[in-house]
Amino acid sequence: MAIQIRDATSRDLPHILEIERLSFPSPWTLASFKRELTLPFSRVIVAISEDYTPNRGATSPILGFLCRWLIADECHILNIAVHPDARRLGVGAMLMIEAIREAQAERAELVTLEVRRSNLAARQLYRKFGFEERRLKKNYYGPGEDAIIMELRFD
Ligand SMILES: CC(C)(COP(=O)(O)OP(=O)(O)OC[C@H]1O[C@@H](n2cnc3c(N)ncnc32)[C@H](O)[C@@H]1OP(=O)(O)O)[C@@H](O)C(=O)NCCC(=O)NCCS
Repeated sequence: MAIQIRDATSRDLPHILEIERLSFPSPWTLASFKRELTLPFSRVIVAISEDYTPNRGATSPILGFLCRWLIADECHILNIAVHPDARRLGVGAMLMIEAIREAQAERAELVTLEVRRSNLAARQLYRKFGFEERRLKKNYYGPGEDAIIMELRFD
């Protein structure tokens, strides 16, 4: 499957929101995505494919998205999700590759993110790209839901 990555526009937001709602118990709102599109240090990218449309012919051409902040020497990944019908096809990996490529090109020193300890798929994805688990934030997402701070340093 040929996957392309491009910057998100406001027209993509309904599709991004659908993926967000299918992916997280406490999803971001439309207002929060709109805000990200206006922040100068924020970037939202989407993965698209001509060959594959999730949800059996639904109109959304968007397979997944990633939101990052680039501030000073740090790229922080705030959000990444892939449509449930398009997982395990390499979409999440393509989004990570672009975020890491850009961070290196912009001379960031590190890429950081937070992940639920119970989210084994995401932790595996990040480990695959060389992220290391640096710190645990106990009950960060609520009782019994710890966060792991992960970090990829460029040397
Ligand atoms: C995490 C997520 C973005 C991965 O996206 P994806 O497109 O399915 O991932 P890819 O197909 O690119 O997989 C890349 C690698 O990630 C790891 N991975 C992905 N899904 C996995 C799973 N269910 N179990 C174990 N490892 C997994 C594997 O190492 C995989 O490489 P491999 O296919 O060679 O084994 C996706 O599962 C998702 O949207 N989850 C819900 C939202 C979420 O949890 N976001 C992260 C918040 S921190």
